[in-house]
Formats: sequence, structure tokens, C-alpha cells
Amino acid sequence: MPSLDKILTIEEMMAAAKRKVPKQFFDYADSGAWTESTYRANQEDFQKIKLRQRVAVNMEGRSLATTMTGEKASMPVAIAPTGLTGMQSADGEIKAARAAEKFGVPFTLSTMAICSIEDVAENTTKPFWFQLYVMRDRAFIERLIDRAKAAKCSALVLTMDLQILGQRHKDLRNGMSAPPKFTPRFVFEMARKPAWALGMLGTKRHSFRNIVGHVENAGDLSKLSVWTANQFDPALSWKDVAWVKERFGGPVIVKGILDADDAKAAVAHGADAIIVSNHGGRQLDGAPSSIRVLPEIVDAVGKSTDVYLDGGIRSGQDVLKAMALGAKGTFIGRAFLWGLGAGGEAGVTRTLQIIQRELDITMALCGERDIHDVGLHNIYSIDLPPRNSPLGANG
Ligand code: GLV
Repeated sequence: MPSLDKILTIEEMMAAAKRKVPKQFFDYADSGAWTESTYRANQEDFQKIKLRQRVAVNMEGRSLATTMTGEKASMPVAIAPTGLTGMQSADGEIKAARAAEKFGVPFTLSTMAICSIEDVAENTTKPFWFQLYVMRDRAFIERLIDRAKAAKCSALVLTMDLQILGQRHKDLRNGMSAPPKFTPRFVFEMARKPAWALGMLGTKRHSFRNIVGHVENAGDLSKLSVWTANQFDPALSWKDVAWVKERFGGPVIVKGILDADDAKAAVAHGADAIIVSNHGGRQLDGAPSSIRVLPEIVDAVGKSTDVYLDGGIRSGQDVLKAMALGAKGTFIGRAFLWGLGAGGEAGVTRTLQIIQRELDITMALCGERDIHDVGLHNIYSIDLPPRNSPLGANG
């Protein structure tokens, strides 16, 4: 396996992670819903956008620095909330949060994390963001929001697109659970992935620590699919955004928006920012890619509200394209998970370096010196057909 500094792209990082992480957890990250067409489209659609090169422009003194929802960011990239991060590498959420902190980018902890809010707070020094799923048990959600407040989380990321779990065939076939079940197949995997196994032996954090021990009937929670089927709230409504915001008292970033009308509703109910997202292609297979719908949503709410994007970001080029189409920042999920699987905290740092370097070079060759100046004028062409709704232009 190449040393981390020999890894030059996120694709190489993914290959390195695949060699080190047991199949069920590698597959959990590297999978989309159903046929995975939306998962693929997230990346493919970035390739359909061409950049406009400029020359003889002074490229000295470039800056990628920005602010995302009140947090300084050394580049417009935050770490997305991802479930079971601590199964890619032992104590993975703590490692990723530390890498993000040192790099100067926001880190978001998932409700479905292995390390708890308190675990991450005790092992970092800067505020992080907490991602919230609203569940049927509102008393538990109230306690979770209060725990995020007590840990000084500086924003909540409220996910709206997982009222029920999309069908992820790889997880179903692999029998994915945390902690993993000691089947003969898994014991064989452990023998092939000894560094991963050793790391796991060295930590007590093996299950969903935001939940287990904090709610009745979840003492042996191990399967995401079982928990979500029982607890995720199919009756989630816009009123909950206002309720969550009131209880938290700080900024709420609404995640999982793919539609301009939903973006307007989110803002009307108090969203401080929006993440255009199809949950990494893990929920509604057949939905458009995030980059494809970004311009409509920026058009709908972008004047008053910061619009971010996740889904398909594998390089600094993708970040620049999203910024050119109106995003105020981006989130990476799989890209950092592969770094974590390949090399722990140093692997996440390497992922961030790869993205930062490519973003800087791309910005320079587009003739820009400040990320805030990037815009539509940096795009040469977009080979994506316009929306063709059966209901017409406003459908
Ligand atoms: C959870 O958020 C997942 O997408 O698995």
C-alpha cells in the first residue's frame, strides 16, 4: 500500500481504504440506494461542466478562506455527517474531528455516529456541528439537542430526507451492523484486515453511542435499518424545523433539499442555511444529482440564505464548480471516510490536502485569486439538459 503522501487522488484513497476496511463497512460508505443511478450521477454530472481557462492574470496571493455559518473555514469544504464513521477506523469520529480542527474546516457529527457528542467534545477543542435526525421519541430528541448545546456545538444540521431509509442492497446482503456480528465470514475478514481489528480491540466505542444508553429499548441496537424502521419519524414536518431551532437556540442548517419549493419552505420555517443533497444517492434513487439542482435552489433562496452542496465531490475542481454555480460551501462524505479508512487522522488530513491543492490550482488557472470571486463567469459550458418537468416550467 502506498504511503499517504504518495496518494494523489480521492480514487486512490478509496482503493487504499478498500484494502484496510472490512467489506461490510467499506460497502456501507460506497453504496447508493437501489440501482445506484443517483449515486453515480452525483459524480458524472460534475464532469459535464467545463471550466473557462484564463491566462495572463496575476495569480499571486490566492485565498480559499471563507466562513460557513459563522465558522471560519480555510477552504469552502466541511466534513459531512456520516453514519458509523467509527467503523471505518477505531474512534473514527474523534480522528476526523481532530483532522478537521487542525485543517481549519467545520466537522459535523452524525446522530448515527459511533463516538458520541460527549466523546468528540472531550477530545477536541473547537466547536463542531451536530447532525440531527428527528425521531418519534421527541423526549429523546430534546435530550439530544440539549446534549449538543451542552457540548457547545455551534450549529445543528437537520436532515430532512431520511423519514424512511432508502433500500441499500449491499447493506442488506452484508448483514451490516455495529458492532459487527462474529460470523465466520467476519472472522476471516478480521484476519485479512489486522490493523483495523487491532484498532477496534483498543477502543470501547463499537456501537451508536449517541443513542445506546440514552433511550429505552435501544440497549442492543446494532442495525441501522432496524432502528430507522422503528424510530425515524415518517410524520416529520416543516413545523419540526421551527421547533428544533427554538430548542437549540443557534443556527440550523437544513440538509436534504433537492427542490426549490422545499428550499423556500425550509427558509420560511427558519433554516439559516440549506444543504442541497440527495444523501449521497442513498435515499431516492432516480432523483437528480445535487450539482444539477443547485442553480434552481440558489435562484429560489440564495439571495437571503447560504446554500451548500454535498454529493459527488471528489476533487477541488468539483468544489470550484459548485461555488461557480452559487454554492457558499460544500460538504465531503465518502472522500473523508476513505481517508479515515486508509490512514486514520492522517488519512483525513491527506484527503483535505488533496482537495485543497486541486481547488487552489483550478482557481488559479481559471484566473481567480479569491474564492469569493468565483462565479458563473468561470464556467465555459454545462452539458446538462434543462429541467423538463411534465408539469411545465413551474411544475
Ligand atoms: C445514514 O445517514 C446513512 O445514510 O446511512
